Formats: sequence, C-alpha cells, structure tokens
Amino acid sequence: MQVSLVVAMDRRGGIGLRGGMPWHLGDDLRHFRRLTMGHHVLMGRVTYEATAGKLPGRKLIVLSRDAGFQPPDAQVAGSLAAGLRLAEAAGEDELFVIGGGQVFAAALPLASRLYLTRVHAEVEADTFFPDFDESEWRLVSQRDYTAGERNDFDFSVMVLER
Ligand SMILES: NC(=O)c1ccc[n+]([C@@H]2O[C@H](COP(=O)([O-])OP(=O)(O)OC[C@H]3O[C@@H](n4cnc5c(N)ncnc54)[C@H](OP(=O)(O)O)[C@@H]3O)[C@@H](O)[C@H]2O)c1
Repeated sequence: MQVSLVVAMDRRGGIGLRGGMPWHLGDDLRHFRRLTMGHHVLMGRVTYEATAGKLPGRKLIVLSRDAGFQPPDAQVAGSLAAGLRLAEAAGEDELFVIGGGQVFAAALPLASRLYLTRVHAEVEADTFFPDFDESEWRLVSQRDYTAGERNDFDFSVMVLER
C-alpha cells in the first residue's frame, strides 16, 4: 500500500490557524476531492473535528488516544501503525494522510508520495508541516493556479515522489 501525504502549506510551512485552514482555495479543494474520492484518508482527531461531515465518499480513519472517542462516520485507531493496518486490511492501494501537523510529522517518514500545494504567501499560522529535505524528493508534476474569486492566493499543486 502506498502512503501519500496531501498538504497545503504557505512559504513558511504554515498549514493551520486556530483549528482551521488559514485560507480558502476553491481550486485546491476540488483537486483534493478528486484525488481522495473513494479512498481511505487518515487524519488526526483535531482535523476530523474541523472537517466533520465535509468528506463524503472517503473512508475515514481518525487517530486518537482517547478510547472514548467514537465518531459515527469514521474508524478510530490509537496509533499510526494501527491506522495503516486498518487501510491495508481493507485492501486500500493508496492511503492519503491528510493532516494535521501532528499526524504529518508521524507519517512523513513512511510516505513515498507528497501531494504538495505550495501557497505563494506568508499567512498567520499556528500549525506547521514538519521540516523536510526537498532534495530527497523528485518533482513529478506541477500545476499553477492564480488568486481570484475562487482562490485567496496564487498556489502551485506539486506531486513529489521518493
Ligand atoms: N493545510 C493543510 O493541508 C491542513 C491539513 C489538515 C489539517 N490542517 C490544519 O492543521 C490543524 C490541526 O493539526 P494538529 O496538529 O493541531 O492536530 P491533528 O494532527 O489534526 O490531530 C491531533 C490529534 O490526533 C491524535 N493523534 C495525533 N498523533 C497520534 C498518534 N501518533 N497516535 C494516536 N493519536 C494521535 C491526538 O488526538 P487525541 O487528542 O484525541 O488523543 C491528537 O490530539 C488545523 O488547524 C487544521 O485546519 C491543515
């Protein structure tokens, strides 16, 4: 099973603010929807709370250490390894790790593909993507989008592999 990370970050690696996203990027949301539809997506409990009900058609795996946390529409795993096992046992071919900061940090060493949206701005953020060595990664594709009615900022959607 391929483990892929999907993230949107600003120039400083910022990914979140006060439990939500620091921007609205309509074209990136559309890309995310198409990419992940029908697949297992794995996320932290905080990201689950922020996206509750907004990910129809995806099979949700939520990481939490709280044994009492039992969302109606997701499977819960107490560790990253247990989350991976759930997707693997279901026959998933590509698992998408979709955040947030804590879960990206745990899963980055296991990932061989990165769907990286680089937001060409510096925004206020309190959650960051972990530092990573871009020289380990090969650029497979890149598509650029411009700010406008749909998107708060210019951004580029890149696919990286290692
Ligand atoms: N820009 C992007 O691409 C993007 C994507 C996703 C999220 N975000 C943003 O990121 C922020 C949330 O990130 P975050 O780092 O605060 O939270 P998070 O990673 O979404 O969730 C953290 C929670 O997940 C559980 N958890 C994390 N690692 C675990 C592990 N190894 N084993 C078991 N449980 C684990 C814990 O839940 P319990 O406390 O229940 O034990 C922990 O409190 C939000 O602002 C969100 O909007 C941005």
